[in-house]
Amino acid sequence: RSAVYYAEIIRNNGIPLPKEDEFLYGEFPKNFWWSVATAAYQIEGGWRADGKGLSIWDQFSHTPLKISNDDTGDVACDSYHKIEADVEMLKSLKVSHYRFSISWSRILPDGTTKYINEMGLNYYERLIDALLAANIMPQVTLYHWDLPLALQNIGGWENDTIVQRFKEYAELLFQRLGDKVKFWITFNEPYNTAYCGYGVGTAAPGISIRPGRAPYVVGHNIIKAHAEAWHLYNETYRAKQGGLISITINSDWAEPRNPYNQEDIDAARQYFLLGWFAHPIYKNGDYNEVMKTRIRDRSLAQGLSQSRLPEFTESEKQRIKGTYDYFGLNHYTTVLTYKINYPADYPGLGILLHLLLNITDRSWLNSGSVWLKVTPFGFRKLLRWIKEEYNNPPIYVTENGVSERGDLDFDDTWRMHYYRSYINEALKAVVLDGVDLRGYTAWTLMDNFEWAVGFDEKFGFYHVNFTDPELQRHPKASARYYAQIINCNGFPD
Ligand code: NOJ
Repeated sequence: RSAVYYAEIIRNNGIPLPKEDEFLYGEFPKNFWWSVATAAYQIEGGWRADGKGLSIWDQFSHTPLKISNDDTGDVACDSYHKIEADVEMLKSLKVSHYRFSISWSRILPDGTTKYINEMGLNYYERLIDALLAANIMPQVTLYHWDLPLALQNIGGWENDTIVQRFKEYAELLFQRLGDKVKFWITFNEPYNTAYCGYGVGTAAPGISIRPGRAPYVVGHNIIKAHAEAWHLYNETYRAKQGGLISITINSDWAEPRNPYNQEDIDAARQYFLLGWFAHPIYKNGDYNEVMKTRIRDRSLAQGLSQSRLPEFTESEKQRIKGTYDYFGLNHYTTVLTYKINYPADYPGLGILLHLLLNITDRSWLNSGSVWLKVTPFGFRKLLRWIKEEYNNPPIYVTENGVSERGDLDFDDTWRMHYYRSYINEALKAVVLDGVDLRGYTAWTLMDNFEWAVGFDEKFGFYHVNFTDPELQRHPKASARYYAQIINCNGFPD
């Protein structure tokens, strides 16, 4: 390995690769939120319990060869029946908040408000009550990828009537849960729905027609649906309920492979994960110029008469601009960019490039996931980037964490190392760079259904024995370590 690494340094002409800075002792601001996250399909199970309708993930995971070992979320961690056990873990972690998502089809089996499944809603009411009784505040994601199948059957996120359906679903939740929920996330990682769901096809609904318009149409409708839900809350519910509502966007940090090479720097600036969704919402209601130009040029080169990226009307731009109360960020890793290895445009190619091109530095520590390298320095840089690019918004990190594969090891030192170094970079962003970071959320409470890789990759603080009918949860060492960081509010001297 070191031979390969040395060859890399030679190829890079001896330019030193990014290094982690010194450790910073200190504490986070008072009232900093410490949280841990999950998502409905990944933990709940109960896929047909008490009148729940099917979602696109129920269908996708039941399609042969889509998921490692043909795993499904039919039972998962059975959280649908284990509120008490879940809340016990949260108490031991000492988190102030718990981020979970609501399964749309559990509450609205056919996706519309024509029929409300009270039993499904009741599960979330009981969960929220149990959290509040333990003095843990809920952070609720409305959409974490599991669209009701009935809505997919009429085109899913490609059909623009979805904007209205989402708004009605959101309104029901504000009405029924809004007295107790003060932190809403409209969408989790819209990039994943648009690009992986409708571009590469590795996530439900598994569409991959390329070069397609679908990912952009989907992204477009998600942005509009988000804006509608935000306005609805802002105008009708905020005064009474007094909560916050925004979106969670995921992004790697893009580091120029050679920091002295202009092409590599340009490539990093054109990295589009964040900007695709953040630019319209946090800046001017529209996509950024790089995105527009690149997709248009590529569309024309492919013989199309117009860009595959749809356009917002002037009134839509006005409606989208500024629809946020905070910046929700999911972050895990860094990639190296050079020349144009991110064409901002070609679903599938990005993944291929991940595998074929040199987008990671071989000295970076691995995890259980191919795409996740341990690169704490990128976390601070990304936080600072958001501060500078989007006018210093209050930021909540809504996910950050690391996976393992293979044999069970309760002594997960690599995970403790990951959290220690990443959270320390976040502390530097706050203390040294003045980033307005208000909260941090670890992914994830317990090992769970990790989408296309099923139960192979485990991100949890708690191990779940999936072969035991009781699905018992047991803490890994990192669970105690995270509790300790929370207890100290960081790393006091
Ligand atoms: C992002 C997603 O929001 C979450 O569902 C997933 O399990 C983690 N990242 C880890 O891949």
